[in-house]
Amino acid sequence: MVASRVQLIKAGREYKARCPFHNEKTASFWVSPDKQFYHCFGCGAHGTALRFLMEHDHMAFPEAVEELAGRLGLPVPHEGGGGAPRPQDASLFDLMARVTQFYAETLQRDERAKHYLTQRGLTAEILQRFAIGYAPDAWNTLLRRFGADEPDRRTLGELGLIIEREGAQVRHGERHYDRFRDRIMFPIRDSRGRAIAFGGRIIDRGEPKYLNSPQTALFHKGRELYGLYEARLARSSLKRLLVVEGYMDVVRLHQAGITYAVATLGTATTAEHLTRVFRLVAEVVFAFDGDRAGRGAAWRALQHALPEAREGREIRFLFLPEGHDPDTLVGTEGREAFEKRLDGALPLSEYLVRELSAQCDIVHADGRARFAEAARPFVHKVPEGVYRELLLARVAEVVGLAPQRLQALWAGGELPAPAPASVAPRAGRSVGRGSLVRQAIVRLVRFPATAGSVTDAERAGIDDCSEPGIDLLRALLDDLRERPLKISAQVLERWAARPGGEHLGSLLKREAVLEDELAAAVELRAVLVKLADSVQDRRLDALLAKQAATGELSETELTEFQRLMNIKAGRSR
Ligand code: UTP
Ligand code: MN
Repeated sequence: MVASRVQLIKAGREYKARCPFHNEKTASFWVSPDKQFYHCFGCGAHGTALRFLMEHDHMAFPEAVEELAGRLGLPVPHEGGGGAPRPQDASLFDLMARVTQFYAETLQRDERAKHYLTQRGLTAEILQRFAIGYAPDAWNTLLRRFGADEPDRRTLGELGLIIEREGAQVRHGERHYDRFRDRIMFPIRDSRGRAIAFGGRIIDRGEPKYLNSPQTALFHKGRELYGLYEARLARSSLKRLLVVEGYMDVVRLHQAGITYAVATLGTATTAEHLTRVFRLVAEVVFAFDGDRAGRGAAWRALQHALPEAREGREIRFLFLPEGHDPDTLVGTEGREAFEKRLDGALPLSEYLVRELSAQCDIVHADGRARFAEAARPFVHKVPEGVYRELLLARVAEVVGLAPQRLQALWAGGELPAPAPASVAPRAGRSVGRGSLVRQAIVRLVRFPATAGSVTDAERAGIDDCSEPGIDLLRALLDDLRERPLKISAQVLERWAARPGGEHLGSLLKREAVLEDELAAAVELRAVLVKLADSVQDRRLDALLAKQAATGELSETELTEFQRLMNIKAGRSR
């Protein structure tokens, strides 16, 4: 088994080779057929045949078992009642391999087809890596070449490579004709690299642009991912998969060095695709064209992705600029720029919130209530756990409710008490005396000199605040720190014609009378700190959500996180 993948040299009762798991010039990789075991003295890789398939071919455990069992002629019981691979499948695989080979050879002889692929930017090396071929422009090539025996003829039919004519159309005894004619042929391979179907692209123009093999005993459309075999071969450790829409996209991305690209085959992403993907990697990025169809496909992919979302997994969405697909984009801007885009792809939670909030006008309270309703089924599709909690928290944040309250609401079906329309979610409010912003403004107007006690840091702390009225507070505070005043009347006079100034007098009247200037100064500063705190809280929440969704923070974000945590720790002590 190892011998079919690594060049082994006999060394006594054992074999040695250059280790396939690390780069080396001398052979330190040993295989013992007796013990059914391999060991590398260079990098320490070791294990059984099963382990070898999982590590070297990146097979999932069940696939590796199946591969080994297949070699030993053992049937493997399947869940889902699929049963062992049927014996006649062997002849199907065999014929598929021969047809693939034939198409590849035909491509080499056909200048027009070769020219088309060159002009699409593909190299000879990549054509070979994907075993891309060409189906000649004729009606009965396959039958002539492979259909001499009746069993083979039947197999061609079972594989969907030839199509039976209707009774009246049968001429000259030719009952069948080739499905693929004058098309570039992309073999779709299973996890062991065996061709199981084809996608055929028309050269130049014509309909349909892509023709795919029908479902056969070998090929289940919603299960396979084009390029997955090649992706596993290319990488000794596959960490991330990029799911795109087209054959060409995959081939072109691999050529550019993005060898973790795979494509669904003209179908939407299915739950089965995702199960397979997450058996291999924890990070998936979906890339969609920026047009309507692409956005629709993304939304469908999201529905299937939600049940797979959990801690430790990263699911993100990339929307390409309109008029581009990954093929054209990586062709014009190259790998690095494309991977930058990938790094900036939207986490699933953000994509969900963005889409739903666009539909609900969340500026207003009733829009936020609709948003909460709309989000409920999505959040509930996520399995219970940390990821769901974070998604719930993110939705709650948009709604402006505490997560527990939102959850209770969802459970009980009770309508949310309408939040004051213009109040931002989680605005810092304190009991009894109006919003924090209002408390600060009142103190400043009543005792303008208190502005002088505010430190630069306290002032800077409210820079990123977005509470209602914060602009007025900042302007007033800056003004009074720069050109101090002593009494309220002066403030009202100076501000009479300024934006917001008209409110100051009535604000002052409606607030409880403040007598103690020293107390007012202390309270003013405390209020500013509280406001800054709520900004930090929100920032901290955002960082936490990002960490949870993407699994990582940049160096600067980490530093910021640390700093914010320290501040909080200091506060609560
Ligand atoms: P696209 O129309 O985006 O084509 O279809 P493409 O992949 O960019 O191909 P090029 O660049 O024009 O050569 C995306 C995918 O949808 C499926 C195929 O799997 C295709 O790769 N498709 C498309 C079909 O199955 N049939 C079609 O007629 C068209
Ligand atoms: Mn394309």
